[in-house]
Amino acid sequence: MTMTRDPETGSVSTNMTKTRYNRIAPFYNFMEAIPERRFRPWRKKLTSKAKGAILEIGVGTGKNFSHYPQGACVTGIELADRMLVIARQKAAELGLSFDLREGDVQNLEFPDHSFDTAIATFVFCSVPDPVRGLKELRRVVKPAGRILLLEHVRIDRPVIGRFMDCLNPLVVRIIGANINRRTVENVQKAGLCVEEIEHLGMMGLVKMISAKTDWAS
Ligand SMILES: C[S@@+](CC[C@H](N)C(=O)[O-])C[C@H]1O[C@@H](n2cnc3c(N)ncnc32)[C@H](O)[C@@H]1O
Repeated sequence: MTMTRDPETGSVSTNMTKTRYNRIAPFYNFMEAIPERRFRPWRKKLTSKAKGAILEIGVGTGKNFSHYPQGACVTGIELADRMLVIARQKAAELGLSFDLREGDVQNLEFPDHSFDTAIATFVFCSVPDPVRGLKELRRVVKPAGRILLLEHVRIDRPVIGRFMDCLNPLVVRIIGANINRRTVENVQKAGLCVEEIEHLGMMGLVKMISAKTDWAS
């Protein structure tokens, strides 16, 4: 397991992130029950764009599984083993033979250009070095492939943005997620080409992002 320092907070390591998600795993679905009503149609829309060999990062408890097109070929990775146990149960309940593995998006075990689509929902708020993780997606996705993300981000308004910055250390400590990530900028920093952004939720708090590995494809 890597010990990566978060470039934004300078403090959260990958092991710490794993510990935090293992801690909340038994309560995760309950904690997310209310916002999940809002997220469900967004998940459905994002997953409907996934094609070919699909890599889902940070599958959590498997909330996206039921939304994939029938027969979808999905490999899923998850940092926290207790989340993964729940995801495996969910896949079994749905009769899905997804390949689900423990893994870290910052160090993927797959060869270059292994997937047609990489997908992640509400994950890059937690990855200690998100740009490194996004660079890994750029490496493992085929040149004509897509990287599809649904992520909450820092609201780009002076007062609210600053408030999110102040609150962030506490939220990270409790639930493992940063509320002030600039994920669109991080996607660009990773060398990915953003082809579409949909601004969702209050003040565009959530972004649905479609990116390519390069403009030529
Ligand atoms: C907020 S949860 C989202 C789970 C799920 N994607 C969803 O939409 O409900 C974030 C997930 O990302 C996982 N995660 C965090 N850092 C990761 C990393 N470096 N590699 C893989 N998964 C990671 C966490 O363990 C957690 O399950």
